[in-house]
Amino acid sequence: MEQERFKALVVRQTSDNRFVRKVEERSIDELPAGEVLVKVNYSSLNYKDALSASGNRGVTKRYPHTPGIDASGVVEKSDNPDFLKGDEVLVSCYALGMKVSGGFGQYIRVPAAWVMKLPMGMTLREAMIYGTGGFTAAHSIYRLRQHGVTPTDGKILVTGASGGVGSFSVGILAKLGYKVVAISGKSSAKQFLMELGAQEVLGREAVQDNSDRALLKGKWAGVVDTVGGNMLATAIKSLKYGGAVTCCGNVAEPEFKTNVYPFILRGVSLIGIDSAECSMTVRKKIWGLLAGEWRLDDLESLSVDTSLAELDGYIEKILAGQGQGRVVVDLWGNE
Ligand SMILES: NC(=O)c1ccc[n+]([C@@H]2O[C@H](COP(=O)([O-])OP(=O)(O)OC[C@H]3O[C@@H](n4cnc5c(N)ncnc54)[C@H](OP(=O)(O)O)[C@@H]3O)[C@@H](O)[C@H]2O)c1
Repeated sequence: MEQERFKALVVRQTSDNRFVRKVEERSIDELPAGEVLVKVNYSSLNYKDALSASGNRGVTKRYPHTPGIDASGVVEKSDNPDFLKGDEVLVSCYALGMKVSGGFGQYIRVPAAWVMKLPMGMTLREAMIYGTGGFTAAHSIYRLRQHGVTPTDGKILVTGASGGVGSFSVGILAKLGYKVVAISGKSSAKQFLMELGAQEVLGREAVQDNSDRALLKGKWAGVVDTVGGNMLATAIKSLKYGGAVTCCGNVAEPEFKTNVYPFILRGVSLIGIDSAECSMTVRKKIWGLLAGEWRLDDLESLSVDTSLAELDGYIEKILAGQGQGRVVVDLWGNE
């Protein structure tokens, strides 16, 4: 068993400092130590995977490396009594695909603490349509609701709306009865976002304030921000009294300039979202919502499928900000 060979996308650094990606054969005994060996059926592509696949040292320090922060599959071998051979499981985040060989390989070996049984009512493939992108959208909305933002409070803004986190945010918020205003840089994504339930789709310039004003007209009861930078700064200044913005991403820019007035005059809140180290208790709760009450009716419309061999083009697309929805990787497709 431990000699079995499998396919994986391997990223290597060349002598002239480029990073090249190739599907290679690896052996199971090369995988890191861990209590649970999982045969991976599906993975998914997140922005962070694309960074890892292109040599971003902030995400992955050591190469050669197999990215993939998400994986769903079947337990092949377990040294932990909580998991038995044949169990359908889900592993997402922690160090998977960043420090540890990830879901872009047909097998992963991980600590039992990272493994979750597949929620009831969800298939292995559906778990990866959601993946970290869908989970982070739900996590952001879960935190806005904990803050007390309700559908009657007013409009909710979603930035980076056509991306993985953004599109799930639009879909789940609309399902829960919120009025959603989606911000997208892609005019071609308007119909996709309206079908997901957005009431309005605006261009990025609608949340790009470049004045020195400390406060702008209060428009949003809540904001799911996935991009950072000036859009996050503008969103904070445009919150209604008592509103909240969740911050999970930095595709636009990691830095932003703000001032104290939205916080001290309007009592707004900035809520940080970290899905990577989020506790297993919260994780199970949110995955349970995604499998049940918050489940989107037309999950398929949010994803395209690809294989390891065809993943490269999607990595380039997401790096260029051109992704739409989610990309599911079928590890055993096109074998
Ligand atoms: N904190 C966490 O735990 C966590 C978890 C998951 C993801 N994230 C982060 O969340 C962000 C989104 O992830 P994702 O997987 O959804 O990525 P994604 O699928 O690439 O979506 C990002 C979207 O942002 C918009 N965008 C791209 N470049 C932009 C720019 N320069 N300025 C403004 N908008 C831009 C684009 O949407 P439009 O064309 O529609 O504008 C793009 O589709 C990433 O930064 C990721 O690292 C964080």
